[in-house]
Amino acid sequence: LGSLISKISPSLVRCVSTAGGSTGSSKKVAVLGAGGGIGQPLSLLLKLSPLISDLSLYDIQHTKGVGADLSHIETRTKVRAYVGKNELPDALKGMDLVVIPAGVPRKPGMTRDDLFNTNATIVADLVSACAKNCPRAIIAIIANPVNSTVVIASEIMKENNVYDEKKVIGVTTLDVVRAATFVAEAKGLDPTKVNVPVIGGHSGNTIIPLLSQTSPPVSFSQQELDSLTTRIQNAGTEVVEAKAGAGSATLSMAHAGARFSFAVLEALSGKEGVVECGYIASRETEFSYFATPLLFGKLIEKAKKELNANIQSGLTFAKQYL
Ligand code: NAD
Ligand code: LMR
Repeated sequence: LGSLISKISPSLVRCVSTAGGSTGSSKKVAVLGAGGGIGQPLSLLLKLSPLISDLSLYDIQHTKGVGADLSHIETRTKVRAYVGKNELPDALKGMDLVVIPAGVPRKPGMTRDDLFNTNATIVADLVSACAKNCPRAIIAIIANPVNSTVVIASEIMKENNVYDEKKVIGVTTLDVVRAATFVAEAKGLDPTKVNVPVIGGHSGNTIIPLLSQTSPPVSFSQQELDSLTTRIQNAGTEVVEAKAGAGSATLSMAHAGARFSFAVLEALSGKEGVVECGYIASRETEFSYFATPLLFGKLIEKAKKELNANIQSGLTFAKQYL
């Protein structure tokens, strides 16, 4: 884990030093898709944070109501609501961090890849607007399939000559959150004290939990390793099936999105040694995008085909879109 931290940590610090956004601990954050299942509770959690001075809510629907509602909460964070394409530029100007949960969720029987056709265009349009209105902001992408939408976002920033590879990040924090929860349950530990790095990508076999790197150190039988790995990899589907057509994880994702956002904002505010896993352009493995820089044998082999295909779909789409 030591080498993992030392490799990830400098990349977050590099984000910080090139951010050039607002100063001090008052950061400006936009949520794109703020009217949705993730967007609403995520916006609530962000509104409660003393790290954020301005919270910009954007969606094609519902934001005026969500904004009015949140604006009554007695915290210093100023909430502004924007609805529809014409208001998007104003929603983005001056932002330090843009979080994107806009896009359709899965229904039972679907893979994340099945969302590609709809969500690729949504993410591409939103990131094009970021390139023009807040080119130096960190862009955190929640919309699925994350393995490909991050690639699309990166290509769009490149085309606009504003790409900084440390600033376009896929949010995989929910995998880390789940891994800690399931390990704590299995071992009778306090989940708030457990950390399990999860690398690779964010779908099925590409989700690679490093159970051997669990902190505090825990030993697992082979059977425990197999069943925990399977559960972590399928946890999204577990929620999709339980919701039975009403969408995918929203509340746990709002928590994970807020946790990721706070890590970025703390780092931007000068805190050192902040670490979160995220899906980012990478040269550490054979994949051009990877949630961490480390290579890990067998599971990597399983991830190979799927992750490479997801990266390729993003590149192909971006070529046609641009
Ligand atoms: P949802 O349908 O409840 O909300 C999506 C919101 O996006 C809606 O309010 C919709 O109006 C908005 N939207 C659609 N097109 C838009 C556009 N062009 N501009 C702005 N807003 C737009 O869905 P949800 O449950 O909030 O999930 C959102 C996405 O997050 C899905 O793609 C889902 O797969 C993904 N997700 C990712 C993770 C992860 O771990 N990264 C976890 C859960 C869900
Ligand atoms: C998740 O992991 O919960 C999300 O990626 C949503 C999904 O479709 O599973």
